[in-house]
Amino acid sequence: MIGTQSIGWAEVLPSHIPGVQVLDRLLAKGWPGPSPAGFFPMSDAGLMAEAALFLPHLMGGDAGAVAGRAFLTTEMAEDGDGLTARLAFLRSAIRDVALHGDLILSDPEAFMDRAETFTLFDYSQARDTSAAALAATKPWVDYVSTLTRAEAAALVPLIDIPAGALVLEPGGNSGAFARALIPVIRPARHVVFDLPAVCALGKARGDAPGLSFAPGDMRRDDWRGVAGGAPDVVLFKSVLHDWPLEDAADLLARARAALAPTGRIIIAERARFMGMTSGTAMDYANLVFAPFYRDPQTYIDMFAGMGLSITVAETRIDCGWFVLTARAA
Ligand SMILES: C[S@@+](CC[C@H](N)C(=O)[O-])C[C@H]1O[C@@H](n2cnc3c(N)ncnc32)[C@H](O)[C@@H]1O
Repeated sequence: MIGTQSIGWAEVLPSHIPGVQVLDRLLAKGWPGPSPAGFFPMSDAGLMAEAALFLPHLMGGDAGAVAGRAFLTTEMAEDGDGLTARLAFLRSAIRDVALHGDLILSDPEAFMDRAETFTLFDYSQARDTSAAALAATKPWVDYVSTLTRAEAAALVPLIDIPAGALVLEPGGNSGAFARALIPVIRPARHVVFDLPAVCALGKARGDAPGLSFAPGDMRRDDWRGVAGGAPDVVLFKSVLHDWPLEDAADLLARARAALAPTGRIIIAERARFMGMTSGTAMDYANLVFAPFYRDPQTYIDMFAGMGLSITVAETRIDCGWFVLTARAA
């Protein structure tokens, strides 16, 4: 459906490499500008000719193109750094797939050693809040935050959290998901538990009712101490795939140990990679992480013996996603 209500990245993002490159160059020039009618840097006739060739769905006067430009105008105004980070990441993912893609599924470690993509996500640089740490951390925080902004519309309706809950979100990053959830679920408190530089960048994005940031290390710290009590909900959004199976199981065990007696653990993740299914360049961004995405059953198995009753809801965004809810008592 075309219209600013329903149009999103799925309609706007091209499927091919030159489209991504031309879109990135246009956005860097301030295109499409503040008006939905669009601003066309006609002085750069070469770029405009490339745009007509590679981004025909965004360049015309038809309703779809106008809505696509209006979407980009809004994204630029609300999340300009995220837009830049998204295009930069896509370029990097596409490059890695072109150069080393044969290794992604056959030898993920060799791929990671060679890929540029993974140099972005250097969590070790987020351990303090020095200017250098913040500068190294901001690009990937901007990237995952802009993805989360787009994912929230599909995921929030699947997140079942009682009003007035104490929510602990390990790996909650800039609070992008918390900011989407809070107006809907109205928690007593939502504590984002992340590395120090990440929390500092998140705090700088402004307040939301009940939102706080707890800098720390989720592999070590006392989760109840971090949350300020036994959390009613421990929420992992796009976090567990970062960790090998043993570490992911350990994080779930920590969540279970910290949980209030009638609490719940919620996991929102991309499901196992099923190929280039989105029809947009987002497939490349997902492909570079393909070996790490798992079926919900992997996490269900980790919960065995923990006395939880489990439900799984599935949805599609840029690929298949699931929201697993594991309830105590
Ligand atoms: C893949 S990102 C997901 C971020 C966010 N939940 C989202 O959906 O966009 C993983 C998050 O885990 C955080 N993280 C990594 N290691 C951590 C640790 N030891 N303690 C706390 N947070 C950690 C990272 O800083 C990052 O914010």
